[in-house]
Amino acid sequence: MSQNLLFTNDVATALGNLVKDAAPATIHVIADENTARLVVPRLGLPASADLITIPAGDDAKNLDTLASIWGHLVDNGATRRSLTVNVGGGMVTDIGGMAAATFKRGMRFINLPTTLLGAVDAAVGGKTGINFRGLKNEIGVFAPADAVIVSTRFFVTLPMHELLSGYAEMIKHALLTDGREYRRLIGTDVSLTDAAGLLPMLRDSVMIKKRIVDEDPCEKGVRRALNLGHTVGHALESFSHECRSPLPHGYAVAYGLLAEMIISHIELGFPSSALHEMGAFLKKTYTASSLGIPVQPLPAISCDDYDRLIDLMSHDKKNATSNDINFTLLEAPGRPVIDRTATPATIVAALDILRDMTS
Ligand SMILES: NC(=O)c1ccc[n+]([C@@H]2O[C@H](COP(=O)([O-])OP(=O)(O)OC[C@H]3O[C@@H](n4cnc5c(N)ncnc54)[C@H](O)[C@@H]3O)[C@@H](O)[C@H]2O)c1
Repeated sequence: MSQNLLFTNDVATALGNLVKDAAPATIHVIADENTARLVVPRLGLPASADLITIPAGDDAKNLDTLASIWGHLVDNGATRRSLTVNVGGGMVTDIGGMAAATFKRGMRFINLPTTLLGAVDAAVGGKTGINFRGLKNEIGVFAPADAVIVSTRFFVTLPMHELLSGYAEMIKHALLTDGREYRRLIGTDVSLTDAAGLLPMLRDSVMIKKRIVDEDPCEKGVRRALNLGHTVGHALESFSHECRSPLPHGYAVAYGLLAEMIISHIELGFPSSALHEMGAFLKKTYTASSLGIPVQPLPAISCDDYDRLIDLMSHDKKNATSNDINFTLLEAPGRPVIDRTATPATIVAALDILRDMTS
């Protein structure tokens, strides 16, 4: 399942070479309404390339949009020897990858992520899919892109909260590797880092994910380490939607990372110094006021909400049974332990400490 990953800000040349080598029957570019306007015109694609524009946003990652892509491919002469180029964030690479993987039982596709979250996470690793009946990523297939072009040049138009969403996943990758990389990231102000400076940091981070995915492409074991921060993170994200104060995914992951570092401290003696550094970093960076955006950085949680949060964690796809809540924990930065469970009492203690550390 090893993927061809290209790290470059000369995207037009890289894409031109890949298209030349592929010599496809037809080229179909899948983009959302924002990336079709902001990115596609800068790719130097041949005039014959067929553009498929889909609505932006996770709500459109559904069966209707998928069917509209399949219909467009049928109507525009796509064959098994055609190529799709998915240009966008994780929403586009997830649904575009699934469209390509299933059309005529599979055609080739290239991912060109245009968000930091897409580049560091969604476009790499072969997970594709759509939401179904209100459930996130309920239907999908493992299908790695033939190539992924990882670039930072299109992030200039990204809103700051989108950039920070992806940065949380970079911090997660660093925590899985070693303490030095983790401290480098929380000591960096990503808002002041230009495209040229961000590209090598992004490459290091993507390679951490690639190494883990190459070892366990279908998530039977070690790949579950990548779920660090996501058990609590997904619960916070879903809870924030229920409270009509939606939290960007990466913000939920950032707070989920801190919560799971606290659980790691209780269960496995994760060092409290690294924990406090993360708390201080979140307070400084993942805030509404410092970003000037209309989102709540952490939904207003009270003790009365703990049962609901634990209930949401118990419905997580990663759990083997509905009684056990599965976590990836850390003995220390770089020493993940997969398939751990924590009792409700420990989770409540962690949520208490999380609230104290971030208030
Ligand atoms: N497959 C995986 O392994 C995996 C991993 C993580 C997340 N995901 C999925 O990824 C999706 C989230 O990805 P995302 O955060 O990239 O969201 P997204 O794709 O919805 O993009 C967020 C917003 O940014 C806009 N945008 C994209 N690129 C831009 C640019 N360069 N300039 C300005 N605006 C731009 C988009 O139009 C959209 O409005 C979710 O559907 C999630 O389930 C998948």
